[in-house]
Amino acid sequence: MKKTTIRSTGMFVPPNVVTNHDLEKIMDTSDEWIRQRTGITQRYWINEECGASDLGAEAAKMALADAGWKPEDVDFIIFATLSPDIMFPGSGCLMAAKLGLDKTPVLDIRQQCTGFLYGLATADAYIKSGLASRVLLVGGEVHSSGLDKSTRGRDVTVIFGDGAAAVCLEGIETDKKVGLLASALHADGNHADSLMTELPASRLLQRLPSGVATDDPRYYPVMDGPAIFKKAVRMLPKVTNEALKKADISLDEIDLVVPHQANKRINQAFGQFMKLDESKIFHNIEKYGNTTAASIPLALHEAIAQERVGRPGDTVLFVALGAGLTWGASIFRFF
Ligand code: UT7
Repeated sequence: MKKTTIRSTGMFVPPNVVTNHDLEKIMDTSDEWIRQRTGITQRYWINEECGASDLGAEAAKMALADAGWKPEDVDFIIFATLSPDIMFPGSGCLMAAKLGLDKTPVLDIRQQCTGFLYGLATADAYIKSGLASRVLLVGGEVHSSGLDKSTRGRDVTVIFGDGAAAVCLEGIETDKKVGLLASALHADGNHADSLMTELPASRLLQRLPSGVATDDPRYYPVMDGPAIFKKAVRMLPKVTNEALKKADISLDEIDLVVPHQANKRINQAFGQFMKLDESKIFHNIEKYGNTTAASIPLALHEAIAQERVGRPGDTVLFVALGAGLTWGASIFRFF
């Protein structure tokens, strides 16, 4: 049976670095609070008009070049974002056009922080069913243009960063236990309002008010941070054990955990609960903040570049929880 392998990775962040000290100048916050509570010291925010598809296209070009593929060699594209360039069409279509493609099928998915995990599982299903053999999976976000940069929004705004990352996935025929070994995915819409942006909303009789009311908080993301934190600390170990069971491997066989980068303390608490050595958990939130759908592939790209993982047989656990709520874990073994 075909196995889904990662041929290459790529990443891109906009050039504009925003430090915690920069945020101190626009809202009532402090570098100390942000570092202690989240582990973040800086993030990248666009400073000229640019969409998730633009960041995604740059990340995709890097991954394609590393795989030695031309854009035309890809037979399916999956683009994950919660911050699409425009209401519709999806950023995947826009990105494919920027790669010079005009007929390659593209699937846009949401799924927020678990976008990469859902994308990986979808790519795997396409590859195993024979519908595709070379899939480009991209996660890209431009959060900064939609954040409440006043003190009212500080609990949300300080944690999010802009960025994109891409992986080239290929189906290979082998009997070896390699590639995507398992995915365990979940969602619970009962908690949708614990992390969301409400407006503009098509469910309203009039989607947009006559004047754009930037003082209306419903235009900005709201988050019940402590509730999500507690949920993450409870659910991430659970879904990890579920994925380990599905893959029929033990935690000891995991060489590196590449988790969603929402809060360093969440990932440290996960590590402690699972009794994992700190060296087995990859962090890069300090540089990028939370880039949502881009965060796992961005971390994976850096983990490979730092040679923390990527040798044949190396086994990685991806794990995430976020808006939806959605949560999941995937286990991947390099070929
Ligand atoms: O990827 C998407 C999924 N999202 C997550 O995984 C987020 C999970 N949650 C978190 O990471 C944390 O809950 C936060 C980082 C968002 C907040 O940290 P916390 O330790 O849970 O703080 P808190 O919300 O309980 O707030 C503590 C205090 C409050 O003040 P009072 O009421 O104690 O006086 C807040 O008003 O910190 C205040 N605060 C801030 N102070 C300075 C909240 N945000 C800030 C800020 N700067 N940016």
